[in-house]
Amino acid sequence: MARTKTRFVCQSCGAIHPRWVGHCDSCDGWNTIIEEALPEIVPLGGKRGAKSSQNGGSAIDFFALDGGSTVAPRQETGMNEFDRVAGGGLVEGSAILIGGDPGIGKSTLLLQVTAALAKKARCIYISGEEAIDQIRLRASRLEVSTEPVELATATNVRNILATLDVEDPPDVVVIDSIQTMYIDGLESAPGTVAQIRASAQELIRLAKRRGFALFLVGHVTKEGAIAGPRVLEHMVDTVLYFEGERGHQFRILRSVKNRFGATDEIGVFEMTDHGLAEVANPSALFLADRQGEVSGAAVFAGIEGSRPMLVEIQALVAPSSFATPRRAVVGWDSARLSMTLAVLEARCGLQFAGNDVYLNVAGGLRISEPAADLAVAAALISSLTGEPMPENMIVFGEIGLSGEIRPVGQADTRLKEAEKLGFEAALTPPKSQKSGRKKTTASLQVNEINNLRGLIGMFGNAKPEVKAVGQ
Ligand code: TYD
Ligand code: MG
Repeated sequence: MARTKTRFVCQSCGAIHPRWVGHCDSCDGWNTIIEEALPEIVPLGGKRGAKSSQNGGSAIDFFALDGGSTVAPRQETGMNEFDRVAGGGLVEGSAILIGGDPGIGKSTLLLQVTAALAKKARCIYISGEEAIDQIRLRASRLEVSTEPVELATATNVRNILATLDVEDPPDVVVIDSIQTMYIDGLESAPGTVAQIRASAQELIRLAKRRGFALFLVGHVTKEGAIAGPRVLEHMVDTVLYFEGERGHQFRILRSVKNRFGATDEIGVFEMTDHGLAEVANPSALFLADRQGEVSGAAVFAGIEGSRPMLVEIQALVAPSSFATPRRAVVGWDSARLSMTLAVLEARCGLQFAGNDVYLNVAGGLRISEPAADLAVAAALISSLTGEPMPENMIVFGEIGLSGEIRPVGQADTRLKEAEKLGFEAALTPPKSQKSGRKKTTASLQVNEINNLRGLIGMFGNAKPEVKAVGQ
């Protein structure tokens, strides 16, 4: 009898170990390793054991770099926010992974996308998680019940492959979610690395062969990785993350990998009673609830992907009752906050020790640009001194460790967006020599500073050794 071969696979990072251990060296996870049977997938229509390489493989062809290539045709969904993130529409035969926390709205988004497309393309929605009735209920809530999307519930990948591997395949297929899919020849349970990898591989191969766009929904674990296998990210053409804070209605679709378009592009949506609504002007929305001149707030002119976005950065510096003061950050990098505080203390003589520091990016947006440094510093000093920043001023710039303000990219785009939204002043780094920025703005008063001292000078109370207000 043939011995079943097994291996030990970490369910969190996909690393393979020779024997069972309690701790995965590769991702530092504990108790994440389980024994799995070696995947043995029978290729569709092929014979098991049909060897190709040693005995009788055929030679492959090579091509020159400059041959004329056809531009992949794109299918626009008509949802602008989605199309932009996808790089201008869906590409035939491409595989798109949509990751996100459970309940963030992945199924809602894909039902809306397929419904928007259904009139001009044949769309199939296969759910492994919800019953047909549940999906119909959602469709009626989204007011798309009359669209000709074809629904199915299935989890067996072989059945799905058999259905889709036909002469006249559909144009778009949604698999919701890849974690519920399984291949029956494989001994591992659904949701394990081996099953997810094998299911995705088979589905992607078919999508390429038959030329339909394939959406794979993937749930994200609490650590932030698409549950278990990061391997999926390598297999697909495009990886989109759907993110947002539960308490906020904003949802952001972010492309982190795209073989057919720019990465770091974002689309902004708002979750309403009737599904996801596109937000064409996010800056206006993120600034809508601004309180006027209050201390501890600064408006940051950021860039997300290819477009500018203004957001309010809020800071609170308050006397601490803890031996080790708290540093809490929502929507920004906590290491960068520590760095900014250190520079303000060491280079400007401001005192944050003995104070708790809280930092929040309003609206539930996550910012990763270093260009936000100066706005964060402005919000921190404003809270420390109790003096508000001018209400009509936007701020951007990166702070260096010696307290210098460094130029950042796309300054003109940021300034134009600020002007469009009625801001009157801007605090910016000096012109970068390379870009040679022109003063394109007529109604915006641009204050260029090259050192943090220029920022401190705006606050009358910000003398070295100032303590938090009320201390
Ligand atoms: P869902 O698409 O099921 O999330 P996922 O597939 O990512 O798990 O989204 C579910 C959430 O969205 C749920 O909490 C209810 C909310 N929702 C609305 O607020 N409005 C709507 O019109 C719909 C359909 C859902
Ligand atoms: Mg869902």
